[in-house]
Amino acid sequence: MTVHVNEDTNVFHLQTKNSSYVFQVLGNGDIGQVYYGKRIHVRDSYANLMTMERRDATVAYNLEHPEFQPDHIKREYADFGRGDFRFPAFQITSPDGNRISDFRYAGYKLTRGKFRFEDMPATFGDKESAETLIIKLVDFSANLEIHLSYAVFPDDDVIVRSAKFINNGNSLMEINHAFSAQLDLPDNDYDFVHFSGAWARERHMERTPLRSGVQSVGSLRTASSHQENPFVMLARPHTNENSGEAIGFNLVYSGNFLDQVEVDQFATTRVLIGINPNEFRWGLTHSSPFQTPEAVLAYSDQGFNQLSQNLATFYSKHLVNQRFAKQERPILINNWEATYFDFNEDKLMTIAKDAKKLGIEMFVLDDGWFGKRDDDTTSLGDWFTDKRKFPKGLGHFADQIHDMGLKFGLWFEPEMISIESELYKEHSNWMINAVGRPSTPGRNQFVLDMSYSEVVDYLYDKISAVIKETKLDYVKWDMNRYITEMFSYALPYGQQPEMPHRYILGVYDLYDRLTQSFPDVMFESCASGGGRFDLGMMYYAPQAWTSDDTDAYERMLIQYGTSYGYSQSMMGAHVSAVPNDQTGRITSLDTRANVAYFGDFGYELDITKLNKRDRAKVEEQIKFYKQYRKLFQFGKFYRLSNPFEGSKNVAAWMVVSDDQSEAIAARYQVLNQPQANYLRIKFAGLDPDKEYRVNDDEETYFGDELMNAGYFVSQILDPDKKVRESADFSSRLFVIKEV
Ligand code: DGJ
Repeated sequence: MTVHVNEDTNVFHLQTKNSSYVFQVLGNGDIGQVYYGKRIHVRDSYANLMTMERRDATVAYNLEHPEFQPDHIKREYADFGRGDFRFPAFQITSPDGNRISDFRYAGYKLTRGKFRFEDMPATFGDKESAETLIIKLVDFSANLEIHLSYAVFPDDDVIVRSAKFINNGNSLMEINHAFSAQLDLPDNDYDFVHFSGAWARERHMERTPLRSGVQSVGSLRTASSHQENPFVMLARPHTNENSGEAIGFNLVYSGNFLDQVEVDQFATTRVLIGINPNEFRWGLTHSSPFQTPEAVLAYSDQGFNQLSQNLATFYSKHLVNQRFAKQERPILINNWEATYFDFNEDKLMTIAKDAKKLGIEMFVLDDGWFGKRDDDTTSLGDWFTDKRKFPKGLGHFADQIHDMGLKFGLWFEPEMISIESELYKEHSNWMINAVGRPSTPGRNQFVLDMSYSEVVDYLYDKISAVIKETKLDYVKWDMNRYITEMFSYALPYGQQPEMPHRYILGVYDLYDRLTQSFPDVMFESCASGGGRFDLGMMYYAPQAWTSDDTDAYERMLIQYGTSYGYSQSMMGAHVSAVPNDQTGRITSLDTRANVAYFGDFGYELDITKLNKRDRAKVEEQIKFYKQYRKLFQFGKFYRLSNPFEGSKNVAAWMVVSDDQSEAIAARYQVLNQPQANYLRIKFAGLDPDKEYRVNDDEETYFGDELMNAGYFVSQILDPDKKVRESADFSSRLFVIKEV
């Protein structure tokens, strides 16, 4: 049993392998948070932890119980306006403009398993792996219910929360905002860890101590964004990769979000995770409840590595499309950085033939195959083949690719429209723009109103036809701009603020229909690289293009940051040409591959232009990746050395097989140093008692030696090296095998 309910004391204790989450019904019918942290015993009551003391600093209190002051009670899902002045988890407006709610506990329901949602991505689990507790709250005078849902996944130390709003009356109620989860922690001795950046510089780790007041990350771009990511952590100041407490928070959602932490006057910490209250409002009618997206809470008292590993296992069992969760991903070649828009069938065939010879398994045709698209100014929405580039049709081209024994993948950007397109001529009102206002272009393009079902139907028909014609194996679903002038012709005046959320629901609807109709087609999500690297997307598309930045050094940073909240099989990672198109930097072919190996590996360059030596190297790399693909994509991931901390000159990480018989570590060095210190790298995750060989050394080592004493790494560059390569941005791989 993982959920313990005491019906006499109304204490709820959610227990996972290593954590306990406790809350209880308070005297006034509200729900109070008791504890979230390392696992503790189940008891009838935790009265000691619920002791209340009167504080003169707080203005509101209960007349009969003056010590009951809402402003210093730790709560489960707080309202506003009755004495708790911290940011609330939700707010509702009644038809008379009243914004006060009074929800009280009205029972619970406990079920085995975890059910999915109908119209949104959600976690799932069978009767053995999960238990779901629903707490029913009722506001009798407003005729409203809130159902707080807690799905407990004991093996992964994960609890998934969400809230559902139900209107039992006949008047229209307005939800002003509704977070998915609130967590009130009793102290503020935490660091806030988040992953911020920009296009081509996504998810750089930042760690700062909590301070009084509000700190947050979020997005108002109608995408989870390049700039911030919904995954954040609270970690004790001493927490490192291998020890200490950390709580991870993520949201199964791809639109506007807010992760907010508020430290109050009593140094308690309130965390709120959910849809951004800005640009949101929802009309709650009798017939249709409102369901928030899900928030994932994960706990570790063994540091960040444990937290990330738990999350990786959890996603693969309870979030990602099970058809692909453990399926080894093909090595692909993508023509984008090889040709950009400048290609025809012949050129692509030469690349594909060469790719096949080198051992590559899938050819992905990127942007530019449709309409009349020779640059980024035209044709989005015209999902029919450009006959100038494919005179015999795309089906014919796909057949040739398949005949060669390669899989075939294709790029789409479903949500977009170009003014210069057939689609715009026919349906200009499908484009999002505000009546009477100029429209702001982004990458010369505009956005379709995905909240409008006709748009989704149109896209479904067009994309389905292409998938069938080409017998497609893979779709790269791109999204290259954020949304401005948010307005929908399809929505009445009062519902315009629902548009950002309805947009995302439309995107999910299309994803759902396509993935259901074509279950064997694997989807990769992309939003100018890493602009929608989130769990909402991962539910449909088990991998994402991690970033448009393919420079080895920048990619190493991006993948390192991303690895805290997402698994390596979620990260598309390609080797591209040098000088790199995004940074102009030159790194060796070895280093580029040594970074890309730790993800879903591929190439994104004109391989027909490689010299003999590099061709041979690429061939070797492909063989090597195939040999260890399972380990790279699904092995247990350990971070060893953090490039966002300390000297920032080194990063190291490794993957370890489940049975600890095999591991591969990588060490990346930014700048070379003269007279460098003697270096021992300490590996992780090995069996202390097993004997291993590293890189085919003659000597063998015990796991405990490799992890605790370390392994000597020479800093002297190979003097016999014939080809001169920069010693900066160098990297080493260590293949560790049980003897
Ligand atoms: C942005 C993507 O991230 C790239 O990989 C590429 O597909 C281009 N869009 C194509 O326009």
